[in-house]
Amino acid sequence: MSYELYPVIRNPKYDFIGQSYADSYPNLHKYPATMIPQIGIELFSELGINKGKLLDPYCGSGSSFIVGLECGLEEMYGFDINPLAVLISKAKFTKIDLNKTKNLCQQLKESVYEFSKKADTLDNLQLPHFFNISFWFSKQVLLNLAVIKYFIDKFESDDIKRLLLVPFSETVRECSYTRNGEFKLYRMKPEDILNFNPDVFGIYFNKLEKVIEIYEQYYYPKLTDAKINIDFGSFQKRDDYYNVVLTSPPYGDSKTTVAYGQFSMFSNEWLGIKYARKIDSMLMGGKPAKSIYQKGLIKEYIGKIAKNSIKRALEISSYYFDLEKSIKEVASSIRKNGISIYIVGNRIVKDVLLPTDQFIAEKFEENGFIHLFTYERQLGNKVMPSLNSPSNKIGEKKSTMTKEFIIVCKKI
Ligand SMILES: C[S@@+](CC[C@H](N)C(=O)[O-])C[C@H]1O[C@@H](n2cnc3c(N)ncnc32)[C@H](O)[C@@H]1O
Repeated sequence: MSYELYPVIRNPKYDFIGQSYADSYPNLHKYPATMIPQIGIELFSELGINKGKLLDPYCGSGSSFIVGLECGLEEMYGFDINPLAVLISKAKFTKIDLNKTKNLCQQLKESVYEFSKKADTLDNLQLPHFFNISFWFSKQVLLNLAVIKYFIDKFESDDIKRLLLVPFSETVRECSYTRNGEFKLYRMKPEDILNFNPDVFGIYFNKLEKVIEIYEQYYYPKLTDAKINIDFGSFQKRDDYYNVVLTSPPYGDSKTTVAYGQFSMFSNEWLGIKYARKIDSMLMGGKPAKSIYQKGLIKEYIGKIAKNSIKRALEISSYYFDLEKSIKEVASSIRKNGISIYIVGNRIVKDVLLPTDQFIAEKFEENGFIHLFTYERQLGNKVMPSLNSPSNKIGEKKSTMTKEFIIVCKKI
C-alpha cells in the first residue's frame, strides 16, 4: 500500500536564524533541545490563539509557557518525567516574594561561609550516597555542595527553595569531573582533574545572583493571574479539556538522540531522586518493544531498518508505539476546534530518514483531527548533537538534523 504524504511548506519566517532562546527569555538553567518561544508566539498570532487552556505534555524547561503568557492564555498545564525539567519550569513560572527571597539569599550566604569555617561541623555533615560518587566529585567539592544543600533544605517555602536549587543544580554539574559543554557524562582527562579545584561557594553564589536577576527582570513581570500547573510524570488524559497543545516531543529514544536523563543525572541525584539513573529508560521509546511497528506510513521505513538490524528496528518501534499512544490521549484531551502544534525533527537511523512529522499528522488524523499544515524550518539555533553516525559505521558522521517540522492539526 502506498501512502500520500502530507504536504510540507518551507517557511523561512520560522527560521529565526541568528536568534536564540536567550534573546527574549534568558534561561535560568541549561536544558537540552529547548524550543525557542519565538516559534510559538508567531504561530499563535498566525492562528489567532489568544485565550484558553494550553497543554504541553513534554514541557522540559517550559518554553511553551512563555508563549502562553505572551499570548494571553489563562491556564497552562505541563508534564515531564524528568524531575530536573519540572524544577526548572516551576522555578521560572511560580510567583514568589522577591524581597523575602533576596533576604533569604543573603542569609544563606552568611550561614554557608560561617558553617564551613568550623571543621568539626563539617565532619558531621551527611554526604549523599550514590553510585561511584567519588569518581565524579572530589571530597572537598562534595562537602561544599552538601553545606549549600543543607542550608537550602532548611528553608520552609518550597517555591523559594526551588529557585535556589536551580543554580545549585548547575553548580553540581560544573564542579563535578564531567567535561563541560556536553550533554552526556564524560569524565575529564586525569591531567585536567589534577588541576581541578573549583570554588564551589563562589560559583554557586554568582549563579544564584544571576538567576535572581533574570527571574526578576524577565519572568516575574510576566507572571500575571494566569494559572500554570506543572506536574512531574507522564501526561494524564483529561477529556475535551484543552484548547491548544504546543509541544516539542523527544525526536527519538533518549539513548540514541538526546539523553535528558543522563544530562540531569547528578542534579537529580542531589535532589534526592532515587531512580535518577533510570530516567532515560522511562522516557519515550526508552523500553525496547517486543514487536516491530507495522502500521501506517512509517511501517515501510522501519521495515528498511529491520532488513539491516532487527535490534534497531525494535528500538525505533518502541518510540513510535509510545508516541502513538500519547497522541491518542492528547487528541482526546483537546476540545472540538482545538489546535495541536507539534515541533519535531526527523532523524536518520541506519541511513533511513524517518518521517516523524508525517507520522504525527497521520496519528492526529486517525484521532479526530484534520491536518491544517506543516511548516519546515531551518534549524539554526537549537542545542542538539548535530553530528552522529546514522549507519553506526565507525568514522562515518553525517549531519542528522538540520530541519524541524511544525505540524498543525485541528480537532473536528
Ligand atoms: C524536546 S524536550 C522539550 C523541550 C522544551 N520544549 C523546552 O523548551 O525545554 C522533550 C522533553 O520530553 C520529556 N519526556 C520524554 N518522554 C516523556 C514522557 N513519556 N512523558 C513526559 N515527558 C517526557 C523529556 O524529559 C524532555 O524534557
